[in-house]
Amino acid sequence: MLDQRTGPRTAADLKANLNDIQGGLLEEYDTLACSYVFYRIGDVASGRAWLADLAGRVTSAAEGPERTLNVALSANGLKALGLSDAVLASFPQVFREGMAARAHRLGDSGPADPANWEGGLGTPDIHAMVAITGPDAITIDQWRQALSADARTRQVEERHHVDAAVVFDRRSGCPSAHFGYVDPISQPAIAGLGDAAPGDGARDGDGWRPLAPGEFLLGYVNELGEATATPTPSELGLNGTFVVFRKAAQDVAGFRDYLKQGAMALWGAYDEAHREKMAAKIVGRWRSGCPLALSPDHDDPAIASDPNRVNDFDYADDPDGLKCPLGAHLRRTNPRASRLTTTIDVNRKRILRRGLEFGPPLPEGAPDDGIARGQAGVFVVADIELQFEFIQAEWVQKGDFIGLPSDEKDPLIGTNGNGGQFTVPGADMPFLFDLRQFVTVQGGEYFFAPGITALKGIAAGNF
Ligand code: HEM
Repeated sequence: MLDQRTGPRTAADLKANLNDIQGGLLEEYDTLACSYVFYRIGDVASGRAWLADLAGRVTSAAEGPERTLNVALSANGLKALGLSDAVLASFPQVFREGMAARAHRLGDSGPADPANWEGGLGTPDIHAMVAITGPDAITIDQWRQALSADARTRQVEERHHVDAAVVFDRRSGCPSAHFGYVDPISQPAIAGLGDAAPGDGARDGDGWRPLAPGEFLLGYVNELGEATATPTPSELGLNGTFVVFRKAAQDVAGFRDYLKQGAMALWGAYDEAHREKMAAKIVGRWRSGCPLALSPDHDDPAIASDPNRVNDFDYADDPDGLKCPLGAHLRRTNPRASRLTTTIDVNRKRILRRGLEFGPPLPEGAPDDGIARGQAGVFVVADIELQFEFIQAEWVQKGDFIGLPSDEKDPLIGTNGNGGQFTVPGADMPFLFDLRQFVTVQGGEYFFAPGITALKGIAAGNF
């Protein structure tokens, strides 16, 4: 039962609200396989009946069952469920526009242009994303088929699904990205859920503190000490948040191949040690997860496996990027205490990274097999524009914020198609001018993940 108190909630309220917050958002599910299933709702009445049934089965943040089910709705989905125009207008504009309409801001052009997106992603037909997780791909597939058969009886059609799973790093056995890096490691810690492991929250003197929950939840106090804006009426927003889904293909063979070329250009050698150094410079961590900020010259598995050290750095002692390049993926997407060219509160630019990898791993040394693989990216934020879009547009696709040329993009995920620059201070030849594009967005959408009471309220037509 939701407490009836009005006014902003704080970290002290969080634990008592976990049974109303959808699971898998604030904390990751301990799961091996999942499917993101996208639906189109046919009409208001049967759509509400479908949602009412799902809302009764949604997994909360207070549970950790073997199988989980969660629901998020796009702006078109809220419309299809009959929310009034006034209520819809109270949602942020970028959410109402949807991800495809924001392509110019996000850098989704060329092969990543929404015209090329798959499965109807980015069109007005994507109304709901149902995320299911479970122990293995077969269980997930059977469950998805049953859910979609049920949905059809309510005029709700599955338009697309993306199956994803944990990919294990062949060296460490840890979850990893297809490119071969342990991932995720760094995630923002949230006040009210426990202490911050070193590096996981915000700098606080010599230590770290967890971030205010309003950075990731609507209706809670944020880093400004204010309640994060919610749609109206406020019960609709309470315990809800926004979820960014972004499917991004990874060119693993092209990436591996480039490591040789890049290492040769920077150091005049492309033996394994130099290829690994190239890989580390691109991300800002050795593939084991050990950060360049703590061990710039060689991988250190002891640091990688120590939760108190693996994320405990802030770049303050590396203003020129001699240890970790200013433009490395890690440093751009969370610059910590790096010197920035404009005043920005970096604690308000954090995102929770969820999601898993789609497609089978490409065996080491194998040529490209033509099979699609990549990241089914899920990013949880209270403000899509200030957090996700800002990082993607200002930090991933540009360089001037950190003193690099304005067109120097993220070496891992930037759209470096026609040759891209990467500055690697300290290398024999510290500039690369021929970076390729390794990641291509294949679709995505902005969703609202309501609190469970609000989800039931939407299904009951209360808004
Ligand atoms: C295919 C796409 C992507 C791949 C392969 C990828 C890979 C990685 C890897 C290997 C790490 C290091 C592990 C860690 O520190 O947790 C990382 C960290 C991170 N990535 Fe990505 N990433 C991708 C897309 C994105 C996007 C689209 C964003 C945001 C717009 C993003 C934001 C971050 C952030 C915030 C961190 C943690 C930085 C820190 O706290 O120090 N990534 N990513």
